[in-house]
Amino acid sequence: MLSHGKARGTSGFFWLNAAEMQIDVLGDGWDVGESRLSLPSEQKRIDTLWMAEAGIVDAFFFVGPKPKDVVRQYVTVTGMPAMPQLFATGYHQCRWNYRDEEDVYHVDSKFDEHDIPYDVLWLDIEHTDGKKYFTWDRMLFPHPEEMQNKLAAKGRRMVTIVDPHIKREESYHIHKEASDKGHYVKDATGKDFDGWCWPGSSSYLDMLSPDVREWWAEKFSIKNYVGSTPSLYIWNDMNEPSVFNGPEVTMPRDALHVGGVEHRELHNAYGYYFHMGTTGGLVKRGEGKDRPFVLSRAFFAGSQRYGAVWTGDNTAEWEQLRVSVPMVLAMGLTGITFSGADIGGFFGNPEPELLVRWYQLGAYYPFFRGHAHHDTKRREPWLFGERNTQLMRDAIRNRYILLPYFYTLFREANTTGVPVMRPLWMEFPNDEATFNNDEAFMVGNSILVQGVYSEQTKDASVYLPGDQSWYDMRTGTAYKGGVTYKLEVSDDGIPAFQRAGTIIPRKDRYRRSSTQMVNDPFTLVIALNNSQSAEGELYVDDGKSYEFQHDAYIHRRFIFSEGKLTSINLAPSNNRRSFSSGCVVERIILLGLPSRPKSALIEPSKEKTVIEMGPLWVQRSQTPSALTVRKPNVRISEDWTIQVL
Ligand code: GLC
Repeated sequence: MLSHGKARGTSGFFWLNAAEMQIDVLGDGWDVGESRLSLPSEQKRIDTLWMAEAGIVDAFFFVGPKPKDVVRQYVTVTGMPAMPQLFATGYHQCRWNYRDEEDVYHVDSKFDEHDIPYDVLWLDIEHTDGKKYFTWDRMLFPHPEEMQNKLAAKGRRMVTIVDPHIKREESYHIHKEASDKGHYVKDATGKDFDGWCWPGSSSYLDMLSPDVREWWAEKFSIKNYVGSTPSLYIWNDMNEPSVFNGPEVTMPRDALHVGGVEHRELHNAYGYYFHMGTTGGLVKRGEGKDRPFVLSRAFFAGSQRYGAVWTGDNTAEWEQLRVSVPMVLAMGLTGITFSGADIGGFFGNPEPELLVRWYQLGAYYPFFRGHAHHDTKRREPWLFGERNTQLMRDAIRNRYILLPYFYTLFREANTTGVPVMRPLWMEFPNDEATFNNDEAFMVGNSILVQGVYSEQTKDASVYLPGDQSWYDMRTGTAYKGGVTYKLEVSDDGIPAFQRAGTIIPRKDRYRRSSTQMVNDPFTLVIALNNSQSAEGELYVDDGKSYEFQHDAYIHRRFIFSEGKLTSINLAPSNNRRSFSSGCVVERIILLGLPSRPKSALIEPSKEKTVIEMGPLWVQRSQTPSALTVRKPNVRISEDWTIQVL
């Protein structure tokens, strides 16, 4: 529980308990007696009442005083968000189900045909032989390795689903081993618990047991997972656990785990342990050279250490697009920052307009995946006419252009717990107008995004907090802060603004996937504040291994002040291991400079370069609209300054 107010700042309370819990918030309207309600507003307080079915009281207070402090304090208890691989921060294309290899190749090639980047193609439960995980339906997927390798050749990955319910079929090797070794959760009588899920009669691995997790981890080796290759990653679903014929569609509370612990004691942590076990498997497989990627539906305090989560089965409705924002924001406040909602809505068929708006918003979710139920119509981005294809392409490309910024934010989350996607009040804790605004949000400290949540929207009301300006990210137009604007909205994007005083790193060239962008040059977008200064950061590493934990990364701070941009090293100077990159900055865009300088001087090379008007977004238009330092070509790994003359 997190509390936030202007007078007393932010504080947090965490009760570590995985049993069923109820928390009553005794807010306005709760009968707390006249006396308290008549208190002056600064003395009013909100009480909360906590009840749990089982467990002990193991509780932590976090004193803040700022929102980011509370998150930082909380992750010292529950763990740091894992650093994802670069590819995982790109776009993921999923559907229940891509039918067969031909379908996979078809979808993959359509992305290229339509010049839409994507990084990962997903296979849901139908790819298996009878919902037996780690197997393939060999009629539909006769050559799984070849399929993965073909996508990998374009820098793309695949994901397959692996759930915790194991089909009770004698000939299924996982079931055979698990039952022989006693690795299943037991029912109250001590027999292997038998419940109904996708495969029919199933048993559930007792992931609470370290031995079971150890055994499970081995199943992900390339040798054991037949048909897998190093470019295959994993999706954990139904790990609440979901039991179709169980009470409340889950496991009975008196089911027994290792050590005779009843399920009621740990129900809410079951999915967390399953996620932990699977991630452990991929870590092992990667031998430190390959960070894992595992998406999980169920999660608990600490799941941020193991991978990404999503908001579950939503519906293709405008209202569900709207609520996805507070859902993702709330998870971010608990350190679980790598999350997102199914783009388009899982159930039902979105109107093209809703689908487009969802892509435009979803491009800012930390986890960016399109997904759909098998009863829905196909909805890949090219199926709704040229205009809609173009709009979805723009939205997805927008994400790819901003990947350097996102990756830098993931690193910030990895070292501080501060989420990638933030409520406005996390950045503006003293601005009361932000406190109940969950239709807009911040991406890092530099970008404010306002979703569009209804059809045929012609204008949006956007509150821009603070006393500094904001720059419309598409046009560069400046707006004063502390004002609510009624802004015209067209179909080609949702309102997004860069905060004055910030610098955003971008990569503007179109490529098929994030892998192919690795050596591309950077663009820096400098948005100046009232005192004509700005600051921003860039974090780059090899995008895949654990070398960054041995200091093998580039971390720069860019500071613009008194007409000079300086790149400062933030990485330890006595790096134990090094990471090198030949990447350069190919363009610097200056927003908010009152004068029109013509050139810039680069130090230490003493070269001069031209400042001219150029397009703000190279991919969208060639219309020169922004002051641009042309080809400074300074390396991101080096110290330099650029003085505007
Ligand atoms: C669950 C998941 C959904 C998945 C389906 C089939 O409903 O939440 O994402 O497609 O199971 O595996």
